[in-house]
Amino acid sequence: MLQSFVIRPYRPSDFNEILEIEKEAFHPINPAYNIYMYSTFCNMFLVMESHGKIVGYIAIMDVSPLESKVVSFAIHRDFRNRGLGKTLFSHALSEIQKRGKKSVLLEVRASNNVAQHLYKKMGFREVGIIPGYYHDGEDAILMRFEFTERLS
Ligand SMILES: CC(C)(COP(=O)(O)OP(=O)(O)OC[C@H]1O[C@@H](n2cnc3c(N)ncnc32)[C@H](O)[C@@H]1OP(=O)(O)O)[C@@H](O)C(=O)NCCC(=O)NCCS
Repeated sequence: MLQSFVIRPYRPSDFNEILEIEKEAFHPINPAYNIYMYSTFCNMFLVMESHGKIVGYIAIMDVSPLESKVVSFAIHRDFRNRGLGKTLFSHALSEIQKRGKKSVLLEVRASNNVAQHLYKKMGFREVGIIPGYYHDGEDAILMRFEFTERLS
């Protein structure tokens, strides 16, 4: 059981641990390139650390002055389903709001019921479907969150 954790900005020394989480969670074609993208181009790249181990991360990019997008979000396989995802996601939403954004977008696999459940609980709504969005041909559900609905 986790006793404590911190949420802090990504550091280059986190690379290998994030890489392992990314690989297991998404089976991407080029996981190292993804981490490089998050660390270079994202406006917010947060990690959740517990007892010196990275247990999750979230990467956020601003897509307009008033809107951000969740680019990637995962919790280490061994630490799932104990509330950490909700805690990290909620923290990221608060940080986005502090930066003056009014809404947040994300895409999620049509089959990813756990993530969709979490997002709906946080106040996200389905706003569209992107057919064949993922490299294996699966559709993405596009979801959007308005801060006025939940916070502030
Ligand atoms: C999606 C993900 C980040 C959720 O993180 P987590 O720490 O496991 O989530 P939490 O423990 O905070 O649970 C969030 C909600 O999902 C539910 N949940 C979590 N794991 C579940 C499971 N395996 N089956 C059913 N429900 C589950 C929890 O019960 C909770 O709902 P509740 O508040 O109604 O009880 C994590 O499963 C993950 O990393 N998945 C792989 C990567 C991924 O899919 N990322 C999202 C891409 S869009």
